[in-house]
Amino acid sequence: MQEKFRNRFHKDPTHFFFCPGRVNLIGEHIDYNGGKVMPCAISLGTFLAVAKNTDKKLRFECLNFPETAELHLQSSYTKTGKEWFNYPLGSIHQLLQEDHTISGLDMLFYGNLPIGAGLSSSASIEVLTMFAIKELFQLPVSNTDIAMLGKKVENEFIGVNSGIMDQFAVAMGQKNKAILLNCDTLEYEYLPFEIGDYVLAIINSNKQRTLADSKYNERFRECGAALKLLKKELSVTHLCDIGTVVLENHRHLIDDPVLEKRALHVVTENERVNLAKGALQNGELKKFGELMYASHQSLQDLYEVSGKELDTIVDFSKTYSGCIGARMTGAGFGGCAIALVKQNSFDDFSSELISYYKERIGYQPEVFASVIGDGVKSL
Ligand code: GLA
Repeated sequence: MQEKFRNRFHKDPTHFFFCPGRVNLIGEHIDYNGGKVMPCAISLGTFLAVAKNTDKKLRFECLNFPETAELHLQSSYTKTGKEWFNYPLGSIHQLLQEDHTISGLDMLFYGNLPIGAGLSSSASIEVLTMFAIKELFQLPVSNTDIAMLGKKVENEFIGVNSGIMDQFAVAMGQKNKAILLNCDTLEYEYLPFEIGDYVLAIINSNKQRTLADSKYNERFRECGAALKLLKKELSVTHLCDIGTVVLENHRHLIDDPVLEKRALHVVTENERVNLAKGALQNGELKKFGELMYASHQSLQDLYEVSGKELDTIVDFSKTYSGCIGARMTGAGFGGCAIALVKQNSFDDFSSELISYYKERIGYQPEVFASVIGDGVKSL
């Protein structure tokens, strides 16, 4: 990257940073409903080589995309089309809105995360940009602040109503730990991710999607609508404030079967996260795996965000004896699934899954063993 930076900007970068992507172990479509999630940072992510400039320009380059941008330093920016640099640009915009002062910057990005695959490539680049700027200009912002600002970038600059999970996971991740995050209060704890002789496989369905054109915002609205109906009799702020018993007793308030399914997913999934915490802490991996399967089923039938590609991966996993749990991870509609697979069966699992999937879907998925790594950092 140093060499590419030199070629493009005719000087050396002064700093290097890295921000990971994430997988979510369980607790899907829960963050914007005020419940608990269990993500981990992974070892793949986005790198940034950067140097300040004195010509009041923001220059964005990326080794993954041909498009580049050169903009005058201004006090605010707006999104331009669907370009990749909207993510770092939106992040800078957000810091400027918080009254932080910066100079011109020459930036070269490179990512080894599959893009649009549900591993949070967008949160990775947002948190990376803000963390780098915080370090370069000694801004008084914490990693939690950066996560919250990253969410604002998604919500206000990019236009996706996503929750805090992805930005929080990539900003706060720790090696070999899962984060149990309460998305309402932002209280969190680290859980040792000890899976003995199992591997956490990541399976990229290779079906790409962007959240902006997916049904993500529709699900967000549906949850808001279900909550509004429940509020006629219940004093609640989020869907996750209630449990399954309370929902059962108030189902008559939700007079729309689609909204009822959405609410049922959210409330049961939130309960599964607590059960999964116990299972992980007690080393009950089989139970953890069963909760993963149940989570997927709910996302498939009740929340309807899975799709034939992800379902095919999970269907195969269920029949494979060395696998004890699998589910889609992230927003869904394509992207990635995760699976808990016996270490010594991993190669066989991968090759069998690849042919099973190719036969049914027509192209190959990618299977790799994940490494749970640290959150954003200077290199
Ligand atoms: C995307 C969003 C997150 C979260 C997940 C689903 O990754 O960015 O905020 O809602 O989908 O759990």
